[in-house]
Amino acid sequence: MKSQLSRMALAVGASLFVVPTAVAQTELPSGVTEEMIATGETIFKGAGICFTCHGQDAKGVPGLGADLTDTEWVHADGSYEKIVATILSGVTSSTGAVMPPKGGPPLTDDQVKAVAAYVWSLSNQPSK
Ligand code: HEC
Repeated sequence: MKSQLSRMALAVGASLFVVPTAVAQTELPSGVTEEMIATGETIFKGAGICFTCHGQDAKGVPGLGADLTDTEWVHADGSYEKIVATILSGVTSSTGAVMPPKGGPPLTDDQVKAVAAYVWSLSNQPSK
C-alpha cells in the first residue's frame, strides 16, 4: 500500500512537470514572426524610445510606463491585436502619466507591429 501511494505521488509529481511545458508552447499570433519580435526589441530599446518610460527590461518605471512583462494589462487584454491598438492610440494612466500615440516617435505601421510583437512575446514566453 505504502509503495503504491508513493508511486502515485511520483506520477502526480511527474505530471506537474509536464503541464508547464505544454502551456509554454505558445503559438505566435497570426501575422507575427520571430523576426518581427527581434526587430521589435531593437525598436523598443532604440528608435521607439519605449524604454524611456517602460525601462530597458520593459519592467516599467514607477510613475511612468507600466510593467509590460507581467500578465496584468491595464489598457490591453494581452492579445497581440489589442497591444497594437494601444500603441497606435497611446494611453493615459490613472495617475495622469501620458503615453503619446506610438510612444512619440513617427514609427511606421510595420515598426508598430514589430514592437507590439516584442511586447506580446514578453508575457508569452516560458522563461519570463
Ligand atoms: C512618455 C512615456 C511613454 C513612452 C515613450 C511609451 N510609453 Fe507605453 N505607456 C506609458 C504609460 C504612462 C502607460 C499607461 C500605464 C498605466 O496606465 O499604468 C503606457 C502603457 C503602455 C501599454 C499598455 C500596458 C497595459 O497594461 O495595458 C503598452 C502595450 C505600451 N505602453 C507599450 C509601449 C511601447 C511599445 C512603446 C514604444 C513604441 C511605449 N509604450 C512608449 C508611457 C509611455
